[in-house]
Amino acid sequence: MAIIFHEKTNTFHLTNKDVSYLIRIMENGQLENLYYGKALKDREDFSYMHEEGMRSQMSINVPEPGMLSMHYTRQEYPVYGTGDYRSPAFTVLQENGSRISNYVYASHSIFAGKKSLEPLPSTYVESDGEASTLEITLHDQITDTDLTLSYTLYENYPVITRNARFLQKGSEKIVLERALSASVEFIDMDYELVHLSGAWSRERYVKSRKLETGIQGIQGLNGTCCGAEFNPFLALKRPDTTEFQGEVYGFSFVYSGNFLAQAEVTTFDMTRILMGINPEGFAWELKQGESFQTPEVVMVYSDQGLNKMSQVYHRLYRTRLMRGKWRDQARPILLNNWEATYFDFNEEKILNIARKAKEVGVELFVLDDGWFGARNDDYRGLGDWYVNLDKLPDGISGLSRKVEELGLKFGLWVELEMVNKDSDLYRAHPDWLIGVPDRFESHARHQHVLDFSRKEVVDYIYEMISKVIRESSISYIKWDMNRYMTEPYSRGAAPSEQGMVMHRYMLGVYDLYTRLTTEFPDILFESCASGGARFDPGMLYFAPQTWSSDDTDANERTKIQYGTSMVYPIVSMGSHVSAVPNHQLHRTTSLATRANVAYFGTFGYELDLNLLTDNEIEQVKEQIRFMKEYRELIQVDGDFYRLLSPFAGNDTAWMVVSQDKQTAVAGYYQRLNWVNASWYRLKLKGLCEDTLYEVSYDTTPDTPINLELEAAYGIRANNNPRKTYQAYGTELMYAGIPIDRDMLKRKSMDFASLIFEIKKVNE
Ligand code: DGJ
Repeated sequence: MAIIFHEKTNTFHLTNKDVSYLIRIMENGQLENLYYGKALKDREDFSYMHEEGMRSQMSINVPEPGMLSMHYTRQEYPVYGTGDYRSPAFTVLQENGSRISNYVYASHSIFAGKKSLEPLPSTYVESDGEASTLEITLHDQITDTDLTLSYTLYENYPVITRNARFLQKGSEKIVLERALSASVEFIDMDYELVHLSGAWSRERYVKSRKLETGIQGIQGLNGTCCGAEFNPFLALKRPDTTEFQGEVYGFSFVYSGNFLAQAEVTTFDMTRILMGINPEGFAWELKQGESFQTPEVVMVYSDQGLNKMSQVYHRLYRTRLMRGKWRDQARPILLNNWEATYFDFNEEKILNIARKAKEVGVELFVLDDGWFGARNDDYRGLGDWYVNLDKLPDGISGLSRKVEELGLKFGLWVELEMVNKDSDLYRAHPDWLIGVPDRFESHARHQHVLDFSRKEVVDYIYEMISKVIRESSISYIKWDMNRYMTEPYSRGAAPSEQGMVMHRYMLGVYDLYTRLTTEFPDILFESCASGGARFDPGMLYFAPQTWSSDDTDANERTKIQYGTSMVYPIVSMGSHVSAVPNHQLHRTTSLATRANVAYFGTFGYELDLNLLTDNEIEQVKEQIRFMKEYRELIQVDGDFYRLLSPFAGNDTAWMVVSQDKQTAVAGYYQRLNWVNASWYRLKLKGLCEDTLYEVSYDTTPDTPINLELEAAYGIRANNNPRKTYQAYGTELMYAGIPIDRDMLKRKSMDFASLIFEIKKVNE
């Protein structure tokens, strides 16, 4: 790995065995991007990659007789107002009303390691040898402002991270009206833009479309989180790129607030990617001595398709974005009472559920919404973080100890950024809401957003919730957030500072996370937002798992988890087995299929196990035994492979392979049963070609109904439901595992699934 500066040609070459990124200081002092892609052999002079040509009506940005036009230059970090008419990466408003600036190369430094961006979340290194960083400082002479562009190249990943920092040294006040984190230019437009989008209960579906001339992109503008609608991620892939071959460039934004991710294609077919804080409503003042740090963009290059890109994000984010005690640990199997009780519970009911959970092997009981203030429905109580003694007479401290006495850990739900108007907190501090005085201010789920851009609000909430945690025995916290921000305005900020409120709000959230994770380092945090509306890398820095979706239907979850896996590690995906008919969709799927999907995540239950039959309880015990055997592989050690896309057809399949390639688990999910089905073989990935494996899977019918059907139709009895055979890696990967669709039809009414356990045979 190296970051090389070629002095004669003013060229920086960031390269490791997988990737090269070339930046050149142009004759006008500005920076151009010469190349980004597969690793190139280093050499002194790449300047032939600078393309320049005469176009009609073009503006020239260097003194005559030069020909440099910024509109046709692949710029590194383009500014507004230079003869480049595309969307810029940044715009600086000055005291004279001008937005014209000229940032030119001033200095650079190259060093081992990577700087922290705290209080912002970012990827990190554990030793300086893991990465090198290049910082290039540009300077605008008239305003006397420094702009430092930072690039970190990881040694063992095809990863370059980027951010920008502004430092106002001059005496005039400037306003950053746009300060994105990265801009990357591509010479052509022969790409498809891939992103993740959806809505409540159908988060992160994979979307892909061909780039077209003009602007296309996604954004988050709801203030408090990336949202269910669009995830702060996009990728450019070649049209013929598949999961396993071809070029793809991934861009992931380590931030949880408003974002912009955009591709702009010129009429000369050049493509510019921009990513950063959404400029809409953003205006950051900088006075002398003040600086502004943008969040980080993590760029992944893969020449082995989307799956390779995802594997890189998975490993990097699991090991160098997540932090703390839980980073390298498989997660406890939990039971959450939300879908079991909603708001309707008391201590006895909770302990009954917890007792049964202990009996089947669950390790952590989580008490969800409804334990505090007057919270018996979602009209009231948020903000009053003290226990409701009518429901829980011995408090959270008493309940948590009783749960621990059962042999379970105890976890608690909170929603710290929110307040109901029917709460003691609101009555005491009506001005702590986000919203404009004397104007209408929307509610959502009858709740309002607390102004976390104000330190005194964050301090107050911190004191309240840390008291509850200190007095109790809490091992896990689910940090929920159930509405988007509307009418953004802080009553605590000056008029000229209102453009800073949304970002300051996020800094307030990160501050509270920092305080709580520092004071309670053993607690496992799970972030959540009306299901999976806050699944972003910024959150993973503080909370190493995220509730993926309120939709716990197994079939819907194949799509949600498949899409989420595009960027986020399996261990980060909160996934539970819930009751049927499913509460969101009213669909019934078998207990086996619900678990077979939930295994590929954190795994837990969200139902009252007391309501299951004896036979189902035995199944649950077996599921928990299975997960305990394989969770280290699935969540920590293994590489994840997407095999069949739920967005492409009737089947979904994925698998996880251990680093030593001796063990794997594959999940196969068939949506609807087929009649007179054709043959199909599921081809595995990532195994060792010459290794002999034993494959085993269970074909036991999922429900007694199927047994009755079998008898009724005189279908032969399935006397040996556990199938086992041996095959070499070559067979499993290139010939594939035969999927017996007739067997699947007998196994389950629709939504059948199989889990394949694959273990090396010791020959
Ligand atoms: C939304 C979450 O997604 C649910 O899991 C649950 O915690 C509810 N909020 C509680 O209000």
